[in-house]
Amino acid sequence: MEIWILSDDQVPAPGLLVVQRRGSGTGLGYCGLIENSTGNTEEPELAFEFLQEFWNRGYATESGAAVIDRARTLGYPGLASTVRAWNTASLRVLEKLGFVNTGVHEHDEMHGDSLLLRKSL
Ligand SMILES: CC(C)(COP(=O)(O)OP(=O)(O)OC[C@H]1O[C@@H](n2cnc3c(N)ncnc32)[C@H](O)[C@@H]1OP(=O)(O)O)[C@@H](O)C(=O)NCCC(=O)NCCS
Repeated sequence: MEIWILSDDQVPAPGLLVVQRRGSGTGLGYCGLIENSTGNTEEPELAFEFLQEFWNRGYATESGAAVIDRARTLGYPGLASTVRAWNTASLRVLEKLGFVNTGVHEHDEMHGDSLLLRKSL
């Protein structure tokens, strides 16, 4: 396993946040904003990942909605997200959060095509 820490000036605010269960403090995964892969600093990318034992309990959707609210407050005009076309769960989360497929996709023979979605704030 590889662990790395990004300093505040390397990630757009509010950065990547650890998601914990209220009360117990159990770490469930992370959710937050990362740099836009196309270099568009106005529109960072929403990213999330959860431990498999906690999948399908609404955590990605709930934490994604909180990050979107924060991004809106911070004044971003929109958010992007890139996701593999085969990643049905992630696409469903983004759909529930109001992201729409832009039709832009990047072909990747090895990992599967990547789709670009976006949401106006
Ligand atoms: C994608 C991921 C973040 C989703 O997290 P989560 O907390 O389980 O998401 P939620 O519970 O909020 O929502 C999941 C939705 O996907 C649906 N879903 C899950 N697996 C599915 C599948 N194989 N086919 C269709 N829908 C699926 C669930 O039913 C749910 O939709 P619903 O509320 O309409 O029933 C999680 O699976 C994960 O960490 N995956 C590995 C890392 C990853 O793919 N990160 C995203 C990179 S862009």
